[in-house]
Amino acid sequence: MKTSNLLVINLSVSVFLLGSVFSNAYGTFNKLVLPPNVTGPESAAFDRAGEGPYVTVADGRILKWKGPAIGFVDFAYTSPNRTKKLCDGTNDLELGPICGRPVALSFNYKSSDLYIVDAFFGLLVVGFNGGLATQLSGGYKYLSGIDVESYTGNVYMTDASLTYNIRSLAQPDFTPDSTGRLLKYDPRTQRVTVLINGLAGGGGPAVSSDRKYVLVPEYVNKRIQRYWLQGPKHGTNEIFMTNIGSPINVKRAVNDGEFWVAVANPAQGLRVNESAMVLQTVPLTESVDTTVTVVQETNGAVYVGSSHTDFIAVYTN
Ligand SMILES: *[C@@H]1O[C@H](CO)[C@@H](O)[C@H](O)[C@H]1NC(C)=O
Ligand SMILES: *[C@@H]1O[C@H](CO)[C@@H](O)[C@H](O)[C@H]1NC(C)=O
Ligand SMILES: *[C@@H]1O[C@H](CO)[C@@H](O)[C@H](O)[C@H]1NC(C)=O
Repeated sequence: MKTSNLLVINLSVSVFLLGSVFSNAYGTFNKLVLPPNVTGPESAAFDRAGEGPYVTVADGRILKWKGPAIGFVDFAYTSPNRTKKLCDGTNDLELGPICGRPVALSFNYKSSDLYIVDAFFGLLVVGFNGGLATQLSGGYKYLSGIDVESYTGNVYMTDASLTYNIRSLAQPDFTPDSTGRLLKYDPRTQRVTVLINGLAGGGGPAVSSDRKYVLVPEYVNKRIQRYWLQGPKHGTNEIFMTNIGSPINVKRAVNDGEFWVAVANPAQGLRVNESAMVLQTVPLTESVDTTVTVVQETNGAVYVGSSHTDFIAVYTN
């Protein structure tokens, strides 16, 4: 009798421990804190060597994380007229045309070039040594997301259905329309083509690991669309996923065929597979909350960017 009671207790202890291991997946976070007065790290990209994250911030810079002893350092910038004296630490949107406002990043892993979209300067590229980026294409309403497909070098980007100065989606004067577009930049012809018109919202796109399609989130329509690059449905788009709150960004996950979706409302990161099944949910309410802009997985951690915080949140097990 005594022995079996003990056994029950032992059993329930191990079930409890096992349960907590699963429910605590990505249950804790640390902060990679930006330099003083710097905010809005909307993206978090890693280079071919796994260094980073590289982040785009509100004062117009692209910063690179060099580890806890050094912190973030300057890597690149988008505006030829930017000065550190005027711009470093600012979050004044009026200064955007002078300081720049890079919002998303993606590396070409073959060339090591870093492609950047900026709210004021369009699509740009900078080499692995950083510095002033070169503009490739301009004149957009608001380029909000980017993904480089390193095999062909093609660049997929989203022109959102809103302008940057009313970006704060929580603001009451935010008026959604359906003028967002999924675009492709071909580095060989240097031409931009429209793949999808009429997106409502329009956030960061992601090419699948087999390069067969691109996913693009529509914040306002609360859904994700899939545009086929190959196969029988090549050149057409369809609804991939609905009923997941307001998706703002999609990134490839470490596992082939899986993605991380950054959802602003309710604030969470969702790992989904190519059957659009949610495999994992990470609540983000304690870190960046509804200001979430990106969920990027690497090396057993997820890095979470935000339009308003002064840190990148790093969730680990
Ligand atoms: C941060 O902002 C405050 C207030 O504008 C200013 O006094 C301070 O010098 C700034 N610090 C840095 C490092 O830019
Ligand atoms: C940079 O400043 C010069 C001189 O003030 C001006 O002519 C030029 O248009 C500016 N360039 C940009 C990209 O704002
Ligand atoms: C996606 O996940 C679901 C649930 O685990 C599974 O049934 C399905 O086969 C998966 N799809 C793919 C393409 O792996």
